[in-house]
Amino acid sequence: MMRRAVRGGWLAVLAVLAGLAIGQEGPAGDQASPQHQANYQNMTPEQRATATREFLGLGAKPDKDAARRGAPMFKQNCAVCHGPQARGATGPSLITSDVVLGDDHGEHFAAYVKKGRPEKGMPAFDSMPDTQLKDIAEFLHEQIEEVANRGGYQVLNIVVGDKAKGKAYVEGHCMPCHTAENFSHIASRYRSPEQLQRGWIWPSRGSEPKRAVTAMVKMRDGAMAAGRVVQVSDFRIVVADAAGQKHAIEREPGVEVEIKDPLAAHEQMILTLSNNDLHNVTAWLASLK
Ligand code: HEC
Ligand code: HEC
Repeated sequence: MMRRAVRGGWLAVLAVLAGLAIGQEGPAGDQASPQHQANYQNMTPEQRATATREFLGLGAKPDKDAARRGAPMFKQNCAVCHGPQARGATGPSLITSDVVLGDDHGEHFAAYVKKGRPEKGMPAFDSMPDTQLKDIAEFLHEQIEEVANRGGYQVLNIVVGDKAKGKAYVEGHCMPCHTAENFSHIASRYRSPEQLQRGWIWPSRGSEPKRAVTAMVKMRDGAMAAGRVVQVSDFRIVVADAAGQKHAIEREPGVEVEIKDPLAAHEQMILTLSNNDLHNVTAWLASLK
């Protein structure tokens, strides 16, 4: 019951805790925070992680071994639509998914994934064994824990990298798409180094049209449809054109679909980034006040 009640305000709570964990004030009028904050500061990181998990209603602590087994299976079967870290791509983020959050050890989750929602672009994984689905569920719970449970982070100052190396990395890897102007005063545009780090690694898609996933579809008769991707699966694609009109197209032989994701490069980048790169780039960007 507790979990259901908490989940509604999940993101708001998350924002409050993000503030608490780095010693900032929660939003004015927040009732849970003063007491929570007082206790929080005297806890060990382990106690903090447990308290945060309970407070957020995250459920059982993820099983690390199962999560490790689930990771490659997620990557192989799910990442193409849900993103490599389950934060969403053409399919929804599973970090904020009720189907995942409302599940302790994979029971509801397994039933959902086996059945899928083919009409909405979520395939049915009806032949995937329950043990594998449980491991994938644990992997997802661990992802949620990483995003939500900042109590588990021991490092209060994440700006630990080498600025000069970070600068070199940015010059070598980011400038095909960005200009120095994109990065000037970038640190002042984020509330904290943590948010800056999240922002450059994983730019939020938000509702910015220039960050939307788009597609060009060429039909069998040569007619074209182009626009924002509303839904996509192996069998069907729905695009909304510039006027907002939706076009649903069956992906039959002879139909050509070309999908463009402006943030695809960032997703790729995550897979190639070493821990040192990550810390160095954050240190460099954090110095651009
Ligand atoms: C071809 C693309 C695709 C693949 C592959 C895929 N999904 Fe999905 N998934 C979707 C879409 C689209 C939805 C949203 C369905 C809807 O609108 O109801 C979805 C929804 C979900 C949801 C429910 C989210 C919510 O809270 O509504 C879960 C859980 C989920 N997928 C898990 C998985 C898992 C686990 C795998 C791999 C075993 C997987 N998906 C593979 C496209 C995909
Ligand atoms: C292949 C292209 C490409 C590469 C390489 C690339 N980015 Fe981006 N990045 C984008 C696009 C596209 C956006 C969204 C642009 C927009 O909305 O203006 C973006 C957005 C961002 C944002 C804005 C996030 C926000 O929410 O405001 C930051 C910060 C950023 N990138 C940092 C970096 C850094 C640092 C690197 C190198 C380590 C990098 N990018 C490499 C394409 C790229």
